[in-house]
Amino acid sequence: MKYAIVCSSKTGNTASLAESIKSVLPGQDLIYCGEPDKKAYEADFIFAGFWTDKGTCDSLSEEFLKGLKNRNVFLFGTAGFGGSKEYFSQILKRVGENLSSDNVLKGAFMCQGKMPQTVRSRYEKLAETDPAKGKMLIENFDKALSHPDGADFENLKKAVLKFIET
Ligand SMILES: Cc1cc2nc3c(=O)[nH]c(=O)nc-3n(C[C@H](O)[C@H](O)[C@H](O)COP(=O)(O)O)c2cc1C
Repeated sequence: MKYAIVCSSKTGNTASLAESIKSVLPGQDLIYCGEPDKKAYEADFIFAGFWTDKGTCDSLSEEFLKGLKNRNVFLFGTAGFGGSKEYFSQILKRVGENLSSDNVLKGAFMCQGKMPQTVRSRYEKLAETDPAKGKMLIENFDKALSHPDGADFENLKKAVLKFIET
């Protein structure tokens, strides 16, 4: 079985998930690991990583996923917000819609990913005019700072092992 890992990551969060996936895959079967690229289309099993941009995957990932045909796919991604499982499910549903029906979505994983400090400054400014919303956003920002964390990596590895065993 041939595997490929593709990953689009602007600030490194999703890239660290890709490394974690790489660490549990049999090295000799991994034919590609890097940015979304057609080289990955040769693999039977594709791990496709994205960062969340406006509620769905980034555009590089979108383009890649739209080009996939007849493959087993595992989606993984990070998002700045992470308060609920439903939020991740909604994102994954939207991202999955980029896959044509001849692909099989075999597994998926999402976790929160830290955001740049400039985002917190924006929230602080907002808190001056809308304290309730500003507080909620700042709390979320601070919660995201430690992610992806050890538990995220462990959960991801478990999901990947389940995926490759099925
Ligand atoms: C332009 C932009 C748009 C974003 N849009 C969202 C969003 O809609 N929802 C969300 O939860 N996080 C959003 N984020 C946060 C990122 O998805 C999050 O920090 C992610 O972990 C970044 O992954 P990376 O480090 O792999 O680039 C956005 C970040 C940027 C820079």
